[in-house]
Amino acid sequence: MGCRVGLEVLQSGGPALDAVEAAVRQLEADPTFDAGCGSFLNEDGEVELDASIMDGAKLKAGAVAAVRRLLHPVTFARKIMEKTDHLLLVGTGAEKFARKMGTKFCPTTALLTGRELGLWKKLRKKKGFHAKTVFSGHPKGTVGAVALDSWGNLAAATSTGGTPRKMAGRVGDTPVIGAGTYADNTLGAVSCTGWGEGIIRIGLARRVLSYLEGGASARVAVKRAVEEMRRRVDGYGGAILVTPKGQIGLYHNTPRMAFAYSDKTGDVKAGIKI
Ligand code: GLY
Repeated sequence: MGCRVGLEVLQSGGPALDAVEAAVRQLEADPTFDAGCGSFLNEDGEVELDASIMDGAKLKAGAVAAVRRLLHPVTFARKIMEKTDHLLLVGTGAEKFARKMGTKFCPTTALLTGRELGLWKKLRKKKGFHAKTVFSGHPKGTVGAVALDSWGNLAAATSTGGTPRKMAGRVGDTPVIGAGTYADNTLGAVSCTGWGEGIIRIGLARRVLSYLEGGASARVAVKRAVEEMRRRVDGYGGAILVTPKGQIGLYHNTPRMAFAYSDKTGDVKAGIKI
């Protein structure tokens, strides 16, 4: 479970950035979710991945969009953050830099599951299909992690295969800092899941933090931001939040959202929130 992997990093004195990267890597390798292995296929039958990571101490971030044949795009996003002056890389330039960094590419088949191939075949010729409808009924979404470490540093990371039957080159909220991911040591760390176009339009991650700035509790801030997204752009999704005091917030307006969290006690609470 991603939460336990991240918790182990924190319990051994590791930084929040390492914890969120380790947690998301675990979830990218788990075929249950729409990230890394298990991702949705685009309209061409290809897997194109988006990911990002943000360091709340320095407000530094790294992101990659529409990249192919990477099992762990979150680690590559971190390399972009730490080894370049840029924030977001896409396309052939991203692949060139990945090769330069010695990043291991995998065959597309290593990211493919029978479940997603089956869904792609089913949706391929469907008339009137809209990706948003998937998020109102499909529990296997984007993965993300937020963490607070013993120095008071916050971090967030998110990774996704995007939406089913998306156009080639479509980029969702996940690599858009302020939409799918945000971390600021003074406010909180947020990671989002759901229909990316709606999440970008409302700037969901940063919107959660705006509610916190306005005095809402962690729980209420996430709920208000997700409800506002639904009200204003008819968006579906959810978000997780941790504050500098270790308060946790999670909320979604989709039928389900799998989650797990822990605190100093080391007890992990997990479930599929309905
Ligand atoms: N939230 C994932 C996406 O829309 O790409």
